[in-house]
Amino acid sequence: MTEPGIRIEGLRKRYGQGDTAVDALKDVHLHVAPGEVVGLVGPSGSGKSTLLKCLGAVIEPSGGRMVLGGDTIYDEGWKTPDLRALRRDRIGFVFQAPYLIPFLDVTDNVALLPMLAGRPNAEARARARELLKALDMDHRARAQPSELSGGEQQRVSIARALANRPPVILADEPTAPLDSERALAVVALLNQMAVQHHTAVIVVTHDEKIIPTFKRLYHIRDGRTHEVRGEGQT
Ligand SMILES: Nc1ncnc2c1ncn2[C@@H]1O[C@H](COP(=O)(O)OP(=O)(O)OP(=O)(O)O)[C@@H](O)[C@H]1O
Ligand SMILES: [Mg+2]
Repeated sequence: MTEPGIRIEGLRKRYGQGDTAVDALKDVHLHVAPGEVVGLVGPSGSGKSTLLKCLGAVIEPSGGRMVLGGDTIYDEGWKTPDLRALRRDRIGFVFQAPYLIPFLDVTDNVALLPMLAGRPNAEARARARELLKALDMDHRARAQPSELSGGEQQRVSIARALANRPPVILADEPTAPLDSERALAVVALLNQMAVQHHTAVIVVTHDEKIIPTFKRLYHIRDGRTHEVRGEGQT
């Protein structure tokens, strides 16, 4: 078995074809160990969201290899028969906007994914409450999303990303709408959750407030990655 976490080798993604083709990813290499939170920075249009979408099996790469949680999910083609189950059970997403479901309360927003994965409702809600407690949101467990502040909504969306105990969390600009204090608190939480649950986390960010906090940082420019802080600096 390959090591768990995330490993990407020589990943490529071309959008479209012919004259209008865009090579968004040309040669991406990256690894994240279980329990580690790694930053990914780069200019607008450099391929950050494309990389997360490939890893999250939202779009299909054009070539290369991706290993998630010890399994090769892509090697010049998908290697996993059920991409929907892969996204639901093995990957947690945190977006810039929390995208909570407005007519479900905080607990059910978090419990929904385990319920969809077939867990009994009582067990899914117990899991949701445990995560909300860890994120210091248990006092708001019965609130509607519209009754929460932006930072509180983002904490609920992190709880939701963790609900199915995925080996991988992908966060695209998770702190963009938050002030310094809240932004740093969200990163601290992601670190704490990564260590506690052995989750491999990638955080795409432009946020100058949080960039200094990453022990390892990748830069992506023109579809190619370079490790700019950490073990394998290039
Ligand atoms: N669906 C698509 N079809 C064609 N080209 C696309 C598509 N999505 C993205 N691109 C192009 O691929 C390149 C990388 O886009 P991507 O969204 O990954 O950048 P990004 O690094 O996330 O930028 P930002 O910081 O602005 O969010 C850009 O040139 C973009 O125009
Ligand atoms: Mg983007």
